[in-house]
Amino acid sequence: EKMPVNLEINGKKMQLSVEPRVTLLDLLREQLALTGTKKGCDHGQCGACTVHVNGQRINSCLTLAVMQEGKKITTIEGLSSGDQLHPVQEAFIRHDGFQCGYCTPGQIMSAVACLHEGHAGSPEQIREFMSGNICRCGAYDNIVNAIMDVKN
Ligand code: FES
Repeated sequence: EKMPVNLEINGKKMQLSVEPRVTLLDLLREQLALTGTKKGCDHGQCGACTVHVNGQRINSCLTLAVMQEGKKITTIEGLSSGDQLHPVQEAFIRHDGFQCGYCTPGQIMSAVACLHEGHAGSPEQIREFMSGNICRCGAYDNIVNAIMDVKN
């Protein structure tokens, strides 16, 4: 049986009706067609599904949508303002911070949290904070460079 859940997603307040077993990731992708958030492992191992909940990053595959009652969710679709990309998105483009691009939305959501929470003091600190975001193409150096560039 579906349950009511109130969420604010990318600045829009929504009243939704959701099966209790549905993850936040599946709600975003399947019910709301916000497919920028990716499903890699679906088990908290890859970071492709990273979104922000009340400004904190979270693996959206690991939490149920109904547990987020009243929370503010930001996905990759909510980062830009109109046609203006977020500075982190621009830095990823400048530094080729992606190859196939599948992990990129999650990488960028983590990178924004990394900068916001003050974990971008050094390349080592960035690598540590970003270690839950796996890139199978191995674009790690460029990702770190992009984050360092936003910081400076
Ligand atoms: Fe959520 Fe991999 S899909 S961590």
